[in-house]
Amino acid sequence: MEEEKLIEKIYSTQTIEKDELEYILKSDDQDFIQSLFHKARQVGDKIYGNKIYIRGLIEFSNICKNDCLYCGIRKSNTSAQRYRLTEEEIMYCVNEGYELGYRTFVLQGGEDMYYTDDMYCHILQQIKSAHPDCAVTLSIGERTRESYQRYHEAGADRFLLRHETADQVHYESLHPENMSFEHRMNCLHDLKDIGYQVGCGFMVGSPNQTIDTLYQDLMFIKEFQPHMVGIGPFIPASGTPFENEKAGTLNDTLKLLSIIRLIHPHVLLPATTALGTIHPRGREMGILAGANVVMPNLSPVGVRKMYSLYDNKICTGEESAQCIRCMDRRMNHIGYEIVKDRGDYKK
Ligand code: 5AD
Ligand code: FES
Repeated sequence: MEEEKLIEKIYSTQTIEKDELEYILKSDDQDFIQSLFHKARQVGDKIYGNKIYIRGLIEFSNICKNDCLYCGIRKSNTSAQRYRLTEEEIMYCVNEGYELGYRTFVLQGGEDMYYTDDMYCHILQQIKSAHPDCAVTLSIGERTRESYQRYHEAGADRFLLRHETADQVHYESLHPENMSFEHRMNCLHDLKDIGYQVGCGFMVGSPNQTIDTLYQDLMFIKEFQPHMVGIGPFIPASGTPFENEKAGTLNDTLKLLSIIRLIHPHVLLPATTALGTIHPRGREMGILAGANVVMPNLSPVGVRKMYSLYDNKICTGEESAQCIRCMDRRMNHIGYEIVKDRGDYKK
């Protein structure tokens, strides 16, 4: 069968042609799509087994100086209620997470200049001295190379900075004029150069995305060789210029997860909260399509609803302990198991 050959070809060459991407995204042949997912799953299993890595996500501030058109916490969204956590509150979440078994903490926030380099370094040192066996990931947006260097020296191991799209014109349609595609790409290269394990990524179905821009995203991943790739469906956020745009689809996201697993097999690939938001079993389906990471929420329950990058986000009412148990059950249900270790990239 031609289609089986196509999957085999992507698998064995670890690359894809643009017309093949188009064919896959347009296909609604269930057998074909299922065998794509299955192949990606096998490739993931061969490297990471049936182990799913967990990252405790601490959303420490929703204050942001940027105005990305898609994002619910953009600075001109006056309907967003703003908050920031103190160092003590962040440490409380970390310590609670440690007790629950987390060995990776992701500090994620808007580009909030209230947090100086000294403050970030102090927080990082606190976490690393309390829990030397843990990895810390930063997801705090664009800063200078010097700042990134300092955070790394203070103990940050990993950094997530989605490239959002590898096409400059598309990038400019998603961001205001004072943000630059070139600067974002420079940040990613600096981070890698400094020695971070780096994650890039993009939204599936963002406004103005085409087969062409998605193909550029895939080629960028192949060239940049990130340790992690975060993708999830675009979901409109009320109070933003894109509030009436269409959301990305479950199927496209799953297909792209599989393709990314096949062309960049060792990547750490989360089944994201956004995927869980557009379908009640979205994260499980993401794992079965090749993802191997989940990022349950560790933020204080009191602020969770306020960190609304998009509408109807899940896990905003549950306590951290409930979230990890829920996730454990979900993974067991599909034959996978959560592991309580740092979950580093396997070469
Ligand atoms: N829908 C889905 N994902 C979003 N993000 C921001 N806004 C949205 C949205 N409306 C993603 C961006 C960002 C990450 C933290 O969240 O890709 O990099
Ligand atoms: Fe948060 Fe299920 S993972 S409630």
